[in-house]
Amino acid sequence: MAQSETNSAIPPVQDQLNRPVRDLRVSVTDRCNLRCTYCMPKEVFDEHHAFLPKDKVLRFEEIIRVARATAALGVNKIRITGGEPLMRKELPHLIEMFLAIPGIDDVALTTNAILLPRHAKDLANAGLSRITVSLDSLDDETMGKINGMGIGATPVLEGIQAAVDAGLGPVKINAVLQRDVNDHEILDLANHFRGTGHILRFIEFMDVGTMNKWNMETVIPSVTIVDTINAVHPLRPASPNYTGEVANRYVYEDGEGEIGLISSVTQPFCGGCTRLRLSSEGKLYTCLFGTEGHDIRPMLRSGMTQDALQEYIDGVWRKRSDNYSEKRSTLDPSHRKVEMYHIGG
Ligand code: GTP
Ligand code: 5AD
Ligand code: SF4
Ligand code: SF4
Repeated sequence: MAQSETNSAIPPVQDQLNRPVRDLRVSVTDRCNLRCTYCMPKEVFDEHHAFLPKDKVLRFEEIIRVARATAALGVNKIRITGGEPLMRKELPHLIEMFLAIPGIDDVALTTNAILLPRHAKDLANAGLSRITVSLDSLDDETMGKINGMGIGATPVLEGIQAAVDAGLGPVKINAVLQRDVNDHEILDLANHFRGTGHILRFIEFMDVGTMNKWNMETVIPSVTIVDTINAVHPLRPASPNYTGEVANRYVYEDGEGEIGLISSVTQPFCGGCTRLRLSSEGKLYTCLFGTEGHDIRPMLRSGMTQDALQEYIDGVWRKRSDNYSEKRSTLDPSHRKVEMYHIGG
């Protein structure tokens, strides 16, 4: 699916580092059917964990107001995230509402794929542009340990197949590598998706949130991943599909497709960061590593006009100067950060 470079009808609103706002990432729920060790460890997210009550979660109409305001500021691309977004009811309806907003031409979904066999057709019928699936391992035991639920790779692969059958393929696959957990699977993952049309992307394990026991030793640098695959299947760097693309692309020399490397730790890409994030409870974050967020739910529920809402978001973006990944090593390790399941990556 072609992605337009910009919402070109709009004069760009720029932040303090001259970055326009182009992508809105919307978390539609803080719930998930998995308990990945690095995101919602099951020791913390047990049966006693209190997820957001329904009245604290933004309603579709409220989300759409925010999306409309950001589209008027230059956003043309929306990514639906979670928790696990397919845990939210009526998602196809939200997709239709997003696509009806002038200027929005790309609506993507990041999912763990477990519920795709049930929902893929309805998502496709609603007009969903693209799907990205999280899959860290092809080995059932490793996968079951990472997701904390003992769920192997098979249901995820079935979810991917359901997306393909519904006309939503090929998909992107996100694999987060952690040293001594799944880094022995670099070639298995590459071999599995080579020649399928799906685009496998390796994500460097990041210090997002406060619960994932991150340290630099756990990160597998992207150069290691490229070297490992290149030694068996020669690779060649390819240019980005659009300005500010997060993944560095490499194509297989033999024409069997491409992979992507998302190197937020070893090669930060804050300079091209055009992403604004909306949490399920209605906080706007201008960085994945944000601390407080800007709480707009009270504004949405107190009769604020659409113009005033737009003006507020315009102000949030103009004041923004985030570049966490570029500053990581110089920051106090106690820097408080929003949890990943609140803003969906
Ligand atoms: P498309 O290019 O539109 O397909 O999307 P994308 O590459 O942004 O894909 P996706 O949303 O799947 O992002 C993949 C992963 O990259 C996320 O889950 C995050 O882990 C990471 N990521 C995405 N955006 C950012 C960002 O702004 N900062 C950092 N540090 N990491 C990001
Ligand atoms: N580092 C890198 N990626 C992460 N994700 C979740 N936590 C991390 C982390 N600490 C990824 C998931 C999924 C996406 C939503 O974010 O694997 O692909
Ligand atoms: Fe759920 Fe995704 Fe977090 Fe795993 S990483 S617990 S699938 S939201
Ligand atoms: Fe954007 Fe923050 Fe990620 Fe940098 S660390 S790319 S500013 S979200």
